[in-house]
Amino acid sequence: MSTILCVAGARPNFMKIAPVLGALAEAGLTGRLVHTGQHYDPAMNDCFFRDLGIPAPDHYLEVGSASHAVQTAEVMKRFEPVLESEAPAAVLVVGDVNSTIACALVAAKRGVPVIHVEAGLRSFDRAMPEEINRVLTDQISDLLFLTEAEALDNLRREGIPAERAHFVGNVMIDSLHRNLARAVPAAQTLGEEMADGHALLTLHRPSNVDDAGTLASLLEAVADIGRQLPVVFPIHPRTRARIEAYGLQGLLAGLKVLPPLGYLEMLGLMRAAKFVMTDSGGIQEETTALGVPCLTLRENTERPITLTQGTNVLVGTDTTKLRQAVAEILGGGGCAGRIPQYWDGRAAQRIAAIIRAWLAETERRRVA
Ligand code: UD1
Repeated sequence: MSTILCVAGARPNFMKIAPVLGALAEAGLTGRLVHTGQHYDPAMNDCFFRDLGIPAPDHYLEVGSASHAVQTAEVMKRFEPVLESEAPAAVLVVGDVNSTIACALVAAKRGVPVIHVEAGLRSFDRAMPEEINRVLTDQISDLLFLTEAEALDNLRREGIPAERAHFVGNVMIDSLHRNLARAVPAAQTLGEEMADGHALLTLHRPSNVDDAGTLASLLEAVADIGRQLPVVFPIHPRTRARIEAYGLQGLLAGLKVLPPLGYLEMLGLMRAAKFVMTDSGGIQEETTALGVPCLTLRENTERPITLTQGTNVLVGTDTTKLRQAVAEILGGGGCAGRIPQYWDGRAAQRIAAIIRAWLAETERRRVA
């Protein structure tokens, strides 16, 4: 009865699920893994399983890409029989991708408790598909694990009982701690000619890459920055497709363009970067943990602790702000930041201990 069915579907889930699976096993619980196949390219997933030592999934649902409705529905359809055959004590989901809400919804409707890791984060921007996934997943979760204490205010505001929520820290930072010593040195990924320092760019949010004007203006600003120091740009498949469709390949000419990288390569590039420009959620947190300045190419963030305590600055899509922020960093400025509470490499252990106690309590109530 102590099986926890754990779900991962897309790249940012893998570094969160890896430490959770490890900690569940250490706590004597059985974690079984479902990979929905939301991400399926080898560069978006096989290498993460290898780099992070994640065991092969017990179930692979092969959903692939589609519209949000179709992708979410496919995950739900394919997850339900797995849930039925596994009959777990709970379903554990991480983050905010479509696979997260899809599996949480199936479990909740079948009366299986839902555990949400990385709960309570809010950008307050419903145009962002992940925000809808976050709000809905939290509403139907029985146990909610928070990366930052302020997230509890968001949950309270939405009527979620505080006793369901536990502030445990950040499991993605557990992965970072565990793997930093194995990070591939930047010089190995980039070659010695770039040893004087680089900036790192990632871009994949629909709001940045699906609009030709926004994407062109961001890439123009980055091309300028690339004249001051080398800019390394590992390109997400969605972004590559848009750049080609809009005929913007010319703007990449001065950049060091790479395919999507493995976890250990990315860690090495982030750690050695003079600064990072990104619209990713996770990278805002990883740069805070590494003490590397981060310029976030979004108007808002669901991870405000990276602004108040970490190294993150929101520059949005205002390229004047971006250029100014870069000039400040290169001039010796930039936000130093400190490490948020519980981002200490032990979040997954805290989670496993709480789940174990919660299962014991549930069992006690059942027999009473
Ligand atoms: C998804 C998550 C996002 C996360 C991101 C990290 C949702 C709503 N979005 O966005 O929160 O930050 O993953 O990467 O769940 N594609 C491939 N190969 C793959 C996967 C995708 O080529 O392995 C291409 C396809 O053209 C696909 C597009 O990327 O249509 C978008 O993929 P999708 O999974 O829908 O969303 P992401 O943009 O990756």
